[in-house]
Amino acid sequence: MAAITIKSAKEIELMRESGRILALVHEELEKIIEPGISTMDIDKKGYELIKGFGCIPSFLNYNGYPASICVSINDEVVHGIPNKKHILREGDIVSLDAGVIYKGYHSDAARTHAVGTITPEAQRLIDVTRESFFEGIKFAKAGNHLHDISKAIQNHVESNGYSVVRDLVGHGVGRELHEEPQIPNFKTVGRGPKLVPGMTLAIEPMVNAGAYDVWWLEDDWTVVTQDGSLSAHYENTILITEDEPEIFTLKK
Ligand code: MF3
Ligand code: CO
Repeated sequence: MAAITIKSAKEIELMRESGRILALVHEELEKIIEPGISTMDIDKKGYELIKGFGCIPSFLNYNGYPASICVSINDEVVHGIPNKKHILREGDIVSLDAGVIYKGYHSDAARTHAVGTITPEAQRLIDVTRESFFEGIKFAKAGNHLHDISKAIQNHVESNGYSVVRDLVGHGVGRELHEEPQIPNFKTVGRGPKLVPGMTLAIEPMVNAGAYDVWWLEDDWTVVTQDGSLSAHYENTILITEDEPEIFTLKK
């Protein structure tokens, strides 16, 4: 198992810029979300934006993944493959997951959006998922342990009557998209590694309105809820410091 990398000041500077660009990409993608567009339209726009910022879309060809943006609708949890036949409809929720490489450094972030008017229940799922990230990172501080974050995410999700996906987790991020450590959004054995300034982490709760069980579609990528319930995703790349974490992929 590779060790957790601690980034130098120079590396942090590059990751900060990588994250700043990714925040802008998400901001622009949100603007085109409306009934009638295809998930392929979102991917095309994402590719153009990322290239336009002089970055590389890190998901494209990652383990054979065929697109730049993962677009997951309703009961799709993550890794939906863009398709020109998949059209957003009023009332859907859609998760966009994107990654960029800037001067060799990755950032990774996801958002879930409403398509037109959605039910209050769907909106609450989106809100609780985002909130669980912020509950988690209250513990993202040097001296704490990784699983303090995991526990806080799970507590927020479950106290709102939802469930946390078990089969996928967050991860360290830096020169690679996926670095050590794995970051579960739920309680596991032990406290996890101690958090140290200079760690850069992609924390990404995936939350189902129903049960946490998921399976993979025939395309070997798209993850869906087994019970057909809605699922939301929220992710940012953060930096551990002595005090508050810095969120690279949110506008300052
Ligand atoms: N954001 C995803 C993650 O954290 C990456 C998607 S996998 C890819 O693991 F193949 F689409 F790149
Ligand atoms: Co990720």
